[in-house]
Amino acid sequence: MLTICREDTAEVIKRTDIFEEIVEELKKIGVLFERWNAKKTISEDSSEEEITQAYMEDIQRLMKMFGFKSYDVISMTPDHPKKDELRNKFLKEHTHSDFEVRFFVYGDGAFYLHPDDKVYIVICEKGDLISVPAGVPHWFDMGTSPNFKCIRLFTTEEGWVANYTGSDIADRFPKYDELKVG
Ligand SMILES: [Fe+2]
Repeated sequence: MLTICREDTAEVIKRTDIFEEIVEELKKIGVLFERWNAKKTISEDSSEEEITQAYMEDIQRLMKMFGFKSYDVISMTPDHPKKDELRNKFLKEHTHSDFEVRFFVYGDGAFYLHPDDKVYIVICEKGDLISVPAGVPHWFDMGTSPNFKCIRLFTTEEGWVANYTGSDIADRFPKYDELKVG
């Protein structure tokens, strides 16, 4: 689901759940959006090894395309002791000098991209891949009951490094919990 809003009033300009339209709109702002299919059966209990094997063709395609050097699998569960701390870390607007790529093996979350005078809210679910270009302000809301497993791809050894913009824009937009209900 993609919702495009004005940055100042959060007024909705466009909303679509049609895959081709989402790909097209996000392409305009340099964001890659794909759907991946597992080549092997995996379950929520699958190991990191089993998960990466099931998506290896796609992982290697992107590694070649963008020069990624490493990848890992991260998990978040509603009973994670640091879920609030981690949620808040991603919930403030920030940029990266490297670009961010996430593939949702399971679960969901909302990316808020702020490349110009609009905010693009992308709700990602199982099978969705999204990239956030270097330097594009954005934030991510995993919700108050986070539950997901993601493959991350990196071009640097440092992994995830954020530069916070200091903006409070994220406070003026609906949180993921509200988006899920609405
Ligand atoms: Fe980020």
